Amino acid sequence: MSQDVVLRAQNLSKTLKVGEVKVEALRNVSLTIERGEFVGIVGPSGSGKSTLLGLIGGLDTPTTGTIEIDGVDITRLSERKLTRIRNEKIGFIFQAFNLIPTLTALENVALPVQFAAKRQFNPHKRAKELLDMFGLGDRIHHRPTQLSGGQQQRVAIARALANNPAIIVGDEPTGNLDSESSSVVMEALRNVRDTFNTTVILVTHDPGIAEQMERLITLVDGRITDEDARTATGTHLRVQV
Ligand SMILES: Nc1ncnc2c1ncn2[C@@H]1O[C@H](COP(=O)(O)OP(=O)(O)OP(=O)(O)O)[C@@H](O)[C@H]1O
Ligand SMILES: [Mg+2]
Repeated sequence: MSQDVVLRAQNLSKTLKVGEVKVEALRNVSLTIERGEFVGIVGPSGSGKSTLLGLIGGLDTPTTGTIEIDGVDITRLSERKLTRIRNEKIGFIFQAFNLIPTLTALENVALPVQFAAKRQFNPHKRAKELLDMFGLGDRIHHRPTQLSGGQQQRVAIARALANNPAIIVGDEPTGNLDSESSSVVMEALRNVRDTFNTTVILVTHDPGIAEQMERLITLVDGRITDEDARTATGTHLRVQV
């Protein structure tokens, strides 16, 4: 595998059974994503976007096919090894933020570092640095309910980055935000890619967000129908948020 390929999926399919009925949520999907790409997954409701993201993130296993993350085939790993790969190589952000309500921003971001099998960072120092980077240096002792939606999602991005993953995946990460907070979160994600060369893969329904992605993968009925690898126009925003 070339060194710059961070994700290689081959002939993925996912068949789900509801009673006697089989649903083919993904059909023979193959794709390659390189380090530092800023990719959107789009398509109608029910087209398989969340299913694909779940497989890419190692949250679910395919019915057929293989997925390699950073050169490691995650398709046939034990649950224990898969958990470790998820913690070290993949950062997740969700529409509902999914922060732990009883912990402060600092503690939420430090948590994945504390759980890492091989610790690369001092948990609190790393958390402080990341929160500073996202303009939340004065909010580190706040709990999620004491933060705005946009601030909570930036804490969630900092948490996703805690172990310096190769890939960040997000399922509608701006779906619960107003347009202003949404722009701030998108700026933060571009900043992550530009600073750390992290691959960012987002599922979105929002045409305004899709427009900002450099490459779009369109799913219809469980299949990739269209791939639009746009070259970025001009320089990337490097605005600190
Ligand atoms: N746990 C499940 N059991 C059975 N079928 C499922 C399950 N999860 C998803 N599906 C089916 O798989 C297909 C793809 O679902 P998926 O959630 O990936 O779509 P999506 O593109 O993310 O849609 P949306 O935009 O509405 O979030 C759908 O037809 C859905 O009904
Ligand atoms: Mg979905």
